[in-house]
Amino acid sequence: MTTKKNIASIVCLSVALFLSNSTRAQTFVSNTDESKVPAYTLPDVLLMQNGRKLKTAAEWNKVQRPYIYQLYEENQFGTYPKIKTAIRYKILESDSHVFKGTATRKQVRIYLHPTDTSVYTDLLMYIPHSKKPVPVFVGYNFSGNQSIQSDPSVFISQAWIAPKTKGVVNNRATENSRGNDTATQWPVKEILSHGFAVATAYYGDIEPDHPEGWKTGIRTTMKDVLNIQPEQWSAMGAWAYGLSRIMDYLQKDKTIDGKKVALMGHSRLGKAALWAGASDQRFALVVSNESGEGGATLSKRWYGETVKIINEKFPHWFSASYKTYGDNTAALPIDGHMLLSLIAPRPLYVASAEGDQWSDPKGEFLSAKEAGRVYSLFGKKGIDTDKMPGLHQPVGATVRYHIRAGKHDVTLYDWQQYLKFAEAQFK
Ligand code: GCU
Repeated sequence: MTTKKNIASIVCLSVALFLSNSTRAQTFVSNTDESKVPAYTLPDVLLMQNGRKLKTAAEWNKVQRPYIYQLYEENQFGTYPKIKTAIRYKILESDSHVFKGTATRKQVRIYLHPTDTSVYTDLLMYIPHSKKPVPVFVGYNFSGNQSIQSDPSVFISQAWIAPKTKGVVNNRATENSRGNDTATQWPVKEILSHGFAVATAYYGDIEPDHPEGWKTGIRTTMKDVLNIQPEQWSAMGAWAYGLSRIMDYLQKDKTIDGKKVALMGHSRLGKAALWAGASDQRFALVVSNESGEGGATLSKRWYGETVKIINEKFPHWFSASYKTYGDNTAALPIDGHMLLSLIAPRPLYVASAEGDQWSDPKGEFLSAKEAGRVYSLFGKKGIDTDKMPGLHQPVGATVRYHIRAGKHDVTLYDWQQYLKFAEAQFK
């Protein structure tokens, strides 16, 4: 006989099953319907461990910032190496007559390991001629230095490069990869015309971007020097560490103003750039171009790529601990706005593209807006509107945001905004 009690328990069970299935489905499936985004709660970036809200920049610097940074090490990126090693470098090539004699091209090999000369990254620089040291935009490229410009003097990368990249055969770059389709991501002439130098390196020099890449990257080759096991950190951590070693070099280069180093990263390289900017405060300005999940956007907002999806597809990018949140983003003690707040009070630009729903543009906007609360502690203004701006209408002051038309990429429009922003901030 079916009693009232039995009916009640069947109903409860079905509701529970429905709920657990729908949460699980959310993590595997990417949602792009705004009306389906469930409610979520962001951790309060100003709430300290002792339950008190912090009120001053001093408290942020002394207590909250180190605490949030540690949460990132523990839950997403893994340990950042605490041991400092000095770089060595060799100028491989330099020509002061490029771009009709207005700039110098320089190619520098930066050795990361104190003794092993096979552990290096090659930095390609274009530096506008100037009587004074110049500001610089630095960042990684996706498929080798030769891919950013069709300049026959740029050395072709010898490193492992992802298949399906134009001009790459058997995971190695060929002549055909010069100035290939990622060339628009580094519009060298445009950057130089604003008085900035360009410094870029191939991220695969540091760790090849595939699940086994750690075996030949610095997580293995620098393991003993840095006293850290490969599984204690992540590919993102290694790439961020590499950016800091590039910074070490830039600070030694007399043509560069070491106080005006702007870091820019697109997509996965934007995630790495944010972690590098959080880990190394010498980066004076940070640009996140469509960094999305694991970067600028909000993981707790079910829209676009999810924690579960990114960890399944790119198991090497983040620490093992990040994977434990795949089915339960509500339990994450961090979210994108906290990563962005680690850049404060330094100028920060977050950008999205309408055709890149995978990165969740609205999540990136909301995250950037929320990070502004930390900037306020320093008397700096972030984004003062709750309304997502329309296309090509940048908003915000020290934290700036735009969404543009078009697909997931870096375009000239993006660069024009970053250059204008950096010029104003570095004045
Ligand atoms: C994939 C990945 C993203 C990443 C992007 C990229 O789409 O899911 O998280 O940002 O690759 O780096 O291009």
